[in-house]
Amino acid sequence: MASAPVHILIVGAGAVGCFYASKLHQPDSSTPVLVSLVCRSNYSTIASSGVSLETHSFGNYHFAPHKVFPSIASAGEAGIKWDFVVVTTKALPDVTNDAHDIRPLVTRGLDGSCIVLIQNGVGIEEVHREEFAENPVVSAVTVISAEQIRHGVIKQNRWTRITMGAYTNGQSKPNQLVSSEHLISQLTQNTDHHIANLVAWFTATGIKDAEHVSEISLQQTRWHKLCINASMNPSSVLSGGTTNSRMSLDPELRTHLKACMDEIFTTAPQILGIPFDEKKHASPDRILKSTERNTTGKPSMLLDWSAERPMELEVILGNPIRIARRQGLEMHRLQTLYALLKMAQLRRKEDRAEAQKAKL
Ligand SMILES: NC(=O)c1ccc[n+]([C@@H]2O[C@H](COP(=O)([O-])OP(=O)(O)OC[C@H]3O[C@@H](n4cnc5c(N)ncnc54)[C@H](OP(=O)(O)O)[C@@H]3O)[C@@H](O)[C@H]2O)c1
Repeated sequence: MASAPVHILIVGAGAVGCFYASKLHQPDSSTPVLVSLVCRSNYSTIASSGVSLETHSFGNYHFAPHKVFPSIASAGEAGIKWDFVVVTTKALPDVTNDAHDIRPLVTRGLDGSCIVLIQNGVGIEEVHREEFAENPVVSAVTVISAEQIRHGVIKQNRWTRITMGAYTNGQSKPNQLVSSEHLISQLTQNTDHHIANLVAWFTATGIKDAEHVSEISLQQTRWHKLCINASMNPSSVLSGGTTNSRMSLDPELRTHLKACMDEIFTTAPQILGIPFDEKKHASPDRILKSTERNTTGKPSMLLDWSAERPMELEVILGNPIRIARRQGLEMHRLQTLYALLKMAQLRRKEDRAEAQKAKL
């Protein structure tokens, strides 16, 4: 006899959300795992036809979600207890507070909903811990190249890696949001149990590199990923849309990219209290070498800038700078990129508003 189903809700049915949703959904297993989606602009397409996936790793296939909702509010009113609420929107704390947004979905408490954050950047978890004092929070970093090429059509170009760790009180820079040792230990235990299930479900559908790491190690993975995201993404926009490969082959830009990465390599160990592991964390030189060959695709920040969508500036540049400053450290290269790009974004918004006013 099948056990009670596990209900997973993905908030943000874009590239990452739909790809991982399709790999978690297992309606026929002995414990059915039923994955539903909260969509936005792609709601009508996905509600009527589901999701088509064109993947490098698993070929082409179709994913029919358990349920599809047009908004968070409607998923909150569906009468389903969401065991997992997985946030896969772009992380834009300057635009929206994700933790406030998902309030209607979360059953509170240690045995309540497990919140899973599959988003880039650092410092993204704290608002969730602030809002949901006792809920398990999984922090997840993915290395994937995927895009929604049309509404409801997801293309995965390469990679499937998803690394997950518990988030209790931000052990790398402990905050006062959870100070009880007993609660921290219970949170770790419950969250680890949820991660073990997530790894098993991903593995069962063929993802070979879903991994479970400690809280501090996960934070280190987040900082290491900034070596690419915080150096190449902003530099690509500021250099007029240059690809990562071309930047890595241009002598001046290569010097600049390496200096950004070196800054992260120097600062992150001081923040986290542990050194990078050269076997696990590629050095700036290795990253640049492999980027030379990566001639396809554009950085996500460039795509967002070109489409005039908000960029993930705060979690990729603003938060690292602020976290470092709290420890008396300055990240000069990242601060320069942040200041320039933030003003460029603001100026463009102002120009658009002026042009709009002039039309009236
Ligand atoms: N794509 C990759 O290859 C990749 C790789 C590694 C990490 N990441 C990270 O993964 C995260 C997700 O990226 P992504 O590429 O999947 O982004 P994406 O394709 O833009 O997907 C985000 C989705 O969230 C939806 N959304 C935003 N706010 C919503 C709300 N309030 N309610 C319902 N839906 C909402 C968006 O809807 P609309 O379309 O209507 O805006 C969009 O469909 C980001 O942090 C990104 O940096 C991405």
